[in-house]
Amino acid sequence: MCALALMAACSQTKTTSALHIPHLQKRGAATQLIVDGKPYLALAGEMTNTASSSPQYMNTVWPNLVKMHLNTVLAAVAWDWIEPAEGKVDFTLADRLIQDARSHHMRLVFLWFASWKNGLSSFVPVWVKANQERFPRAQVKGGKTVEVLSTLSEANREADSRAFAAFMRHVRDVDSRAHTVIMIQVENEVGLLGDSRDRSPAANEAFAKSVPPELMDYLRNHKDSLLPEFRRLWEAAGFKTSGSWEEVFGKGPAAEEVFMGWNYARYVGRVAGAGKAEYPIPMFVNAWRVQPQDKTPGDYPSGGPQAHMHDLWRAGAPQIDILSLDVQSLKFPEVVAQYTRSGNPLFIPESRGDAVGAANVFYAVGQHNAIGYSVFGLDLTTRLLGSGPGTGVTPQVPLDIESLPLPRSYAVLSQLAPLILEHQGKGTIAAAWLAQENADQKIQLGDYTLNVELTRDRRTPNVLPERGYGIFISVGPDEYVIAGNDVQVTFSPNTPGPEIAGLASVETGTYLDGRWIPGRRLAGDDCVLRYDLAAAASVNQSGSGVRFRGDGPSIQHVKLYRYR
Ligand code: DGJ
Repeated sequence: MCALALMAACSQTKTTSALHIPHLQKRGAATQLIVDGKPYLALAGEMTNTASSSPQYMNTVWPNLVKMHLNTVLAAVAWDWIEPAEGKVDFTLADRLIQDARSHHMRLVFLWFASWKNGLSSFVPVWVKANQERFPRAQVKGGKTVEVLSTLSEANREADSRAFAAFMRHVRDVDSRAHTVIMIQVENEVGLLGDSRDRSPAANEAFAKSVPPELMDYLRNHKDSLLPEFRRLWEAAGFKTSGSWEEVFGKGPAAEEVFMGWNYARYVGRVAGAGKAEYPIPMFVNAWRVQPQDKTPGDYPSGGPQAHMHDLWRAGAPQIDILSLDVQSLKFPEVVAQYTRSGNPLFIPESRGDAVGAANVFYAVGQHNAIGYSVFGLDLTTRLLGSGPGTGVTPQVPLDIESLPLPRSYAVLSQLAPLILEHQGKGTIAAAWLAQENADQKIQLGDYTLNVELTRDRRTPNVLPERGYGIFISVGPDEYVIAGNDVQVTFSPNTPGPEIAGLASVETGTYLDGRWIPGRRLAGDDCVLRYDLAAAASVNQSGSGVRFRGDGPSIQHVKLYRYR
């Protein structure tokens, strides 16, 4: 082939593959991750921080991840591991991870542990760490220097960006056809700990200056759509459109957090942009969220992508696609709702792997169109056990991984994934996350109201399971696919016509490659009869529904009819 023809062929290949690289796509109300041209649901696990620095260790882990029904692994690549000496890059570890993920039929999300990991700079190469003159650090109250690179340094940002760009160029070179690597987390849980702002000389100088016009313009242009917490802060200081940080956001830690947020967002955005210039797959950041005991920014990482800082991060780091959250809390529905505002797509890189986690993943993908859910530390199988009441598991030795709640939950969701992805964003899918303190919920879906409750035995109606969950998909008129654990559902018509819903047919079954394989036909004791207990003399049957036992989620295909 002549040189010109070869160049033409190459540029064509580049354009074609660029169109097919993993990307986000808005579909109705959902933003989905598209991999190999199709929506993708990440049923994931994150490895503990340094697991991926040892292929030998990972060899012992991969078979367990397969048993857990994972399709995606989140694993660290640290700046220190790929650029141990300045300008000398080594991608052996990343290449080995890609190769091993492929041989286990999994995808990868790389975690770029670079300038910051949990607020600290512990994964930075020593040639950076040991040269404070060239790579300045943050200072906290009392002038104390901490092992945290300062956001205010151009040298820090350039060094990180260069390494990340080299890494992403390499990922493009080795993976732009196979698409094993589907997203990147840029840094980890950024923000300053121990003070509400950096007090280094450079930071003091920047803090005394005017708020940058880019931020002011963003706020002015988005004034009516800002999240309420951020708008209130700006409003309290008089909606000023210019001035110093304290003039525009008021004196005190809240303004200092905004200052830090802007500087972290600008820095991380620049790093992400340098990587995207090489290979533009979706990139996200993760928040170490404010905890109930925290009193002020600095107790939690100040300037991180907290829910109340989302406007600032959108303004400062448009290169970042998702502002994600790490959540171990038992208030999962409440917490994730905060991170789905303003169209932020939901992806949860770190959460629980116990029975609560099994419920969380159902809820995230069914109720909030999540792109995926990931359990922190899944190279340790004990993460599947959790601790304390409500985990629903008695430890066994050796662990029977496949029988545990989260792997069972992932197994069911991987069968349902094509159906879930088809319905996300269309208003035809919902989910419930129930615990004893919120034991029932009403969901409007299709032509019925679904009355979802924790399972109750008619003989012992006051004994409730600790938790229950379900995902509900309206697949046609009078027809639902439901999967759940320890829940029961009765149906009330919400369109004109006969007012009682009855069961036309209920089948348990499985999906194989998207095809329904029916198992048992359910009726009688294996379903629910709903009684109108208020009726004085006799107890009237007022409809019926379906029941999911608590021995791991299962799928039912339900057809209804109506009578009066
Ligand atoms: C949150 C961090 O993001 C993780 O890297 C890890 O250190 C966990 N905390 C530990 O629980």
